[in-house]
Amino acid sequence: MKATEIKKDIFWVGAIDWNMRDFHGYSTYKGTTYNAFLLKDDKVVLFDTVKKNLKGDFVHRIRSLLDPSQIDYIVVNHVEMDHTGALPEMIDLVRPEKIFCSSMGKKALLSHFHREDWPYEVVEPGQSISLGKRSVRFIETRMLHWPDSMFSYIPEEKLLISSDAFGQHWATSERFDDEVDFSELMSHAAKYYANILLLYSSLVNRLLNNVAEMGIEIDMIAPDHGLIWRSSVDRILKAYSDWSVHKAKRKAVVVYDTMWHSTEMMAKAVADGINREDVSVMLMNLQKNHRSDVITEVLDSRAVVLGSPTLNNGMLPRMAAFLTYMKGLKPGNKIGAAFGSYGWSGEAVKQMRGIMEEMKFELPEPGIRVRYVPEHPDLTECLEMGRRIGRAVRESVSRENEQ
Ligand code: FEO
Repeated sequence: MKATEIKKDIFWVGAIDWNMRDFHGYSTYKGTTYNAFLLKDDKVVLFDTVKKNLKGDFVHRIRSLLDPSQIDYIVVNHVEMDHTGALPEMIDLVRPEKIFCSSMGKKALLSHFHREDWPYEVVEPGQSISLGKRSVRFIETRMLHWPDSMFSYIPEEKLLISSDAFGQHWATSERFDDEVDFSELMSHAAKYYANILLLYSSLVNRLLNNVAEMGIEIDMIAPDHGLIWRSSVDRILKAYSDWSVHKAKRKAVVVYDTMWHSTEMMAKAVADGINREDVSVMLMNLQKNHRSDVITEVLDSRAVVLGSPTLNNGMLPRMAAFLTYMKGLKPGNKIGAAFGSYGWSGEAVKQMRGIMEEMKFELPEPGIRVRYVPEHPDLTECLEMGRRIGRAVRESVSRENEQ
């Protein structure tokens, strides 16, 4: 794909990773992009680089615009290797006058590349530098999602280069939000938030408030992954605002694993009960759904209902793995419940409830255990529990919407 001019004399020069399928445990089944941007002014600036294996594409794309030696500055908004893998080679080609980064960025660069001789220029939060007709203001975004992370804002262009924030893992030939299917774009953005940023929701919320207080005008957000927001800036900002306060839809997700389909029968009855209360429900078998897709559905669900039979005095390993993942990401403001079949000991339900309790889920139900294979009365009990959860979801979401 060619270098794309996103604003006058500002170009996308990143790389498209069509083959990426697993991003440290996040299923990227449609690939991703590593976005980098080249700004031509009195000073020529490169914002971020790409993953090491794609440095050839990246350098080729830059050379279509200018010789890399014409670049004056490199800005490192984030040190994770998907954005700095190609940095050592770029520094050799560019011999930059300055490498701008946060104070934590400098530490992280030294820890990754062990190069004391690079021309680091540590910037203070809020500091601006002049490039000629334009300037760059650096906005500290510590822990979004690494300690080094920062944004670069170009006020003359109302352009926010937002590092990982507002990204999506989606490889496309298109570069802008209005060139692709919008609902698919938002589903990738939601998945990205759920798997990368959910843990840092309180910081996201604070950042959004700070940006509003600063009064900075934004008409384009250029993240380091996926499509650039130019027609739907307000919509992605609103979505981030909602996700950051754990706002939910009238929706529940029933997540389960099963050995001989008894817990699956219970899962279906619970889901049926939820849905009978006019609440949307997703039924997700952990044998068939990747944990990163399950957590995406958790993001905007009010209730999370977990099902597992008991194996070796515990829950099934896939459920344990999912709960480790979900606990780490800290989804908030959820109603939880648990159920499962068992043969003789039956600890799984208690264990799943215990983890949800640690996560501060509201747990209005004691949970349901069924010995071996459920019969009609057992499934009726599951359905009734589903109905009670469905009503609780409906009431909770209605209360939230009235506020
Ligand atoms: Fe896209 Fe945190 O790296």
